Amino acid sequence: MWMTLQVKTLEQPATLTFGQQQIQLPVVQGSEQELGLDISRLRSATGMITLDEGYVNTGSTRSGITFLDGEQGILRFCGYPIEQLCAQCDFVEVSYLLIYGHLPTRQQLSEFQDSIRKHTMLHEDMRSFYSGFPRDAHPMAILSSVVSAMSTFYQDSLDPTAPDQVELCVRRLIAKLPTIAAYSHKKSVGQPFIYPQNDLDYVENFLQMMFAVPSEPYEVDPDFVSALNLLLICHADHEQNCSTSTVRMVGSANANLFASIAAGVCALWGPLHGGANEAVVNMLNQIAADGGDVKKYVALAKDKSHGFRLMGFGHRVYKNFDPRAKIIKAACDRLLAKRAIHDPLFDIAQELEATALSDEYFIERKLYPNVDFYSGVIYRAMGIPVQMFTVLFAMGRLPGWIAHWKEMHSSDGNRICRPRQVYTGPTERPLVPIDQR
Ligand code: ACO
Repeated sequence: MWMTLQVKTLEQPATLTFGQQQIQLPVVQGSEQELGLDISRLRSATGMITLDEGYVNTGSTRSGITFLDGEQGILRFCGYPIEQLCAQCDFVEVSYLLIYGHLPTRQQLSEFQDSIRKHTMLHEDMRSFYSGFPRDAHPMAILSSVVSAMSTFYQDSLDPTAPDQVELCVRRLIAKLPTIAAYSHKKSVGQPFIYPQNDLDYVENFLQMMFAVPSEPYEVDPDFVSALNLLLICHADHEQNCSTSTVRMVGSANANLFASIAAGVCALWGPLHGGANEAVVNMLNQIAADGGDVKKYVALAKDKSHGFRLMGFGHRVYKNFDPRAKIIKAACDRLLAKRAIHDPLFDIAQELEATALSDEYFIERKLYPNVDFYSGVIYRAMGIPVQMFTVLFAMGRLPGWIAHWKEMHSSDGNRICRPRQVYTGPTERPLVPIDQR
């Protein structure tokens, strides 16, 4: 059956006509003039649901945190362009912005930083938790397990309906995630865990926990600190992406924040999402080992029978360019030039980008490098192992996940997330006893 939809003015509801029936659907307009049709009454009025596999065209919520325009390559957190945030703020300041909805004053920022410092250490018993993981465990698996285990160690901050408990949980998560992440790296290389050092700032502290060893002094490199701040800011939020939607979905059941974030970490791990940064470097290494023939891999990516995709290319929302990729590529250029590093993978990445962007297949489908395409080259320059790339993405995305979880809990229309389906399985049939099958 075909339906017609009529939208006369934005002030009036849209009219959906199907057969002899008509239903009015309210039109919702966002602050950037985006439009949505509120179909929440559709089923009760007509018996029909909407079907949108992969949620390509489904708005799951109203949100005041991040605006992005995929056609024009615009990304703003709480109204502030990503380019300005990267140029003028550090990651903790941007985290504050996302979580509390406004930029902090000096005093608010310093109170926030101090309270994070207070919580950087893990409960001592959590250290022994690490000895149960195999040496070659993926750090994303460790990260999600340990974040989930936080709900066993910090039971005084689990109630999602108690604002003071949520606040404590937020600060614990922001403070401890770098420690958990660095410990997972130390475990993989067999080095002793390095305690947080609270006279350092957030990013410096993470780098010293990652790279310092007890046997010699370690000096934090300021170029790496600014590069990492920039990368974390670029990853800090991206509205209703797969992992954020997961955090909201789990949180909508009133699961505690630790559990919700652990679920988000698992979603992020997938190579079609945050795991792409690791997959990009693996792909570039494979191209290099195969003689550096970029054209061969572009041809492979176009061959549907092969199933190979250019990792770090394409995005559900960006159909022009990903503004984060531009910022990260420029940072990559600057860092490599300043440190006189020649990374052959950077050359291959640039050649791959140029070849793909002049190819009809990629042009037609509006496939551009995304946030993950160049980030791995910077991580490599800093000495961060490939398996840790997605963990760094998780550290960056944490304030965004928290902001969305909090926004969901404070919104009026908050209900458990529960999509429907169109059932396509067998209709009712008699059960045949096992010895007669
Ligand atoms: N290489 C080759 N072809 C691609 C690529 C790619 N990287 N990405 C999309 N396409 C093609 C698809 O085959 C499809 O072609 P078709 O129309 O002929 O069938 C078309 O472009 C549209 O692709 P979809 O998969 O429908 O797009 P979708 O929005 O569902 O997926 C995604 C987006 C998952 C990011 C996809 O582009 C992809 O797999 N990219 C590689 C993985 C990656 O870099 N992920 C990181 C995304 S950013 C992030 O999450 C942080």
